[in-house]
Amino acid sequence: MKIPGKSKNAIGLDIGSNSIKLAKLGQKGDTFELRSIGYREISPEAMVASEIKDREAIIFDLQNLIDQYEPKAKDVVVSIEGHGIITDKINIDKKSGAEAEQAILFEAEQRSPFDVEDVTMDFHIINVNEETNKMDVLLVAARNEYLRSYLSIITDAGLNPVIVDADSLAILNAFEINYEVDPHRVTALVNVGFDITNVTFINNGLYHSTRDVTGGARMIYESVQREFRLNQDLAMKVLKGEMASSIDQDLLKATLVTSTDELLSGLEIAFSYFKSSAKVSDIDWVLLSGGGSLIPHFPELLQSRLGTSVEIANPLRNIEYDPTLFTGMQIERTAPIFMVAIGLAARRIK
Ligand SMILES: Nc1ncnc2c1ncn2[C@@H]1O[C@H](COP(=O)(O)OP(=O)(O)OP(=O)(O)O)[C@@H](O)[C@H]1O
Ligand SMILES: [Mg+2]
Repeated sequence: MKIPGKSKNAIGLDIGSNSIKLAKLGQKGDTFELRSIGYREISPEAMVASEIKDREAIIFDLQNLIDQYEPKAKDVVVSIEGHGIITDKINIDKKSGAEAEQAILFEAEQRSPFDVEDVTMDFHIINVNEETNKMDVLLVAARNEYLRSYLSIITDAGLNPVIVDADSLAILNAFEINYEVDPHRVTALVNVGFDITNVTFINNGLYHSTRDVTGGARMIYESVQREFRLNQDLAMKVLKGEMASSIDQDLLKATLVTSTDELLSGLEIAFSYFKSSAKVSDIDWVLLSGGGSLIPHFPELLQSRLGTSVEIANPLRNIEYDPTLFTGMQIERTAPIFMVAIGLAARRIK
């Protein structure tokens, strides 16, 4: 969704329920260069499953993050996830220009589960099949009420949102700029956040569909507090792998198995739904990102439960940077957390 007011090097801003992430890229010839990267945790109660609970707290943290890393920032590219947004794919007769737009919006109106008055819609043509004279179009619809309240946080923090994207499409963008897309490998991009896990499927080298599955690190975080009788700070350290030597790893694995059961069941359903709709027998690999990818033992658990090989994403794989500029961030290790922010920062703005 494009919003009036444009600039060149907008900042990618990923406001999650556990933390706000910021990334800024520059262009060096054909390659991207990392200009800045920032991270700030927010209170776990300020945003729950993408619902804003304490807007003042989020605005405060957002302003602090901006002051610390990009004090001159104005234009930002942001994204939404969860119930406020839906994506769909349609296959219609090939058209171009205004004619295409009209046909797509007409089709979208027929399909939207929301009243069209209540949503803001956008679309993207995924591919055109010259033989059948048909084209696949991705539709994105955001609930206006949600969009307004989300955007008011950004504007109240003194920023200007130039593009509103979806987390699940930002991870696709981050993937495409960092990896060779192999048309023979069916790929699932899985971004495990605090409350929501974004899944994007790629088949035949093209976007197929996305799904936001309920659940993420919060379930593990709460179970770890209970099982190990730890306060919030220490439980978060366990999830970050900072307490490895002082806690029982077998108990941690067992806690992970029970606390992620709902999320993993949701992922299994999303995977089998995709397989039947795309008519593929297997998903060849999962590229895992988000904070969940850094939780000790979680990637292995995901791999064994889904029966698909899991690799941890590196959204800086094709992006140049001077590591000495970012020593405090440990970005080599924490890069997967910035998958969405990097995907947003790489959006082209004219
Ligand atoms: N080094 C780390 N830094 C921050 N979080 C980490 C780290 N290692 C593991 N994690 C886990 O990642 C979780 C946060 O993930 P992430 O930042 O992707 O969520 P979010 O984007 O804020 O949430 P959501 O997308 O669901 O709204 C934390 O709760 C923590 O458990
Ligand atoms: Mg997130």
